[in-house]
Amino acid sequence: MNIFDYIAPYYDRVFHRVQQKQKDTLLREVAITPGIKVLDIGGGTGKLACQFVKEGAEVTMVDKSQGMLNTAKGRCEMDWVEALAENLPFAAESFDLVVSVDALHHFQQREEALMEMVRVLKRNGSIAILDLERQYWFTRLICLGERLIGEKSVFYNAVELEEIFREQGLEVQVIRPSRLEFLVIARKS
Ligand SMILES: C[S@@+](CC[C@H](N)C(=O)[O-])C[C@H]1O[C@@H](n2cnc3c(N)ncnc32)[C@H](O)[C@@H]1O
Repeated sequence: MNIFDYIAPYYDRVFHRVQQKQKDTLLREVAITPGIKVLDIGGGTGKLACQFVKEGAEVTMVDKSQGMLNTAKGRCEMDWVEALAENLPFAAESFDLVVSVDALHHFQQREEALMEMVRVLKRNGSIAILDLERQYWFTRLICLGERLIGEKSVFYNAVELEEIFREQGLEVQVIRPSRLEFLVIARKS
């Protein structure tokens, strides 16, 4: 059991407002067209994934927590897979859009996870990562809190992600939905 297995039954109640804001940001910045194949990595209780389903996408959600996945399962018609972001059980170039919201900093091998995102992304597809900027005191506080409950959280800055994706030949756009957050969108040509 990991910490997310324990908090899964309460997660949506506690984070409802944050999730709503993140969902609005993603829907505003990322084009969802009917039939598009979306992968949500660290999708948690599946709220965002189900919003994509409503918009007509074919969604697969990956999470390492069985507790979080169990909450997601009853929510809408999608595929869910218990797996690690660092080792995705999908063929190369399987998805048009790969999203990860508030999850990257939880992954233990973040660079491997980023490379996996690039690998499973189709040509002309996009990766969208939403998370907190590392340098702010609020993020440091969150990081400390998460470490106290056993997570090995490490946050990125948008510029670091930008560099990593550019090195892989992707085009990168950085959006700042708020002062604390970044949304990095990386496109594969
Ligand atoms: C803070 S929650 C965010 C959930 C969801 N994206 C949201 O915004 O509501 C982080 C999620 O990442 C998942 N996670 C953490 N490490 C993971 C890994 N290595 N591979 C896959 N999922 C992971 C956790 O189980 C948890 O569901």
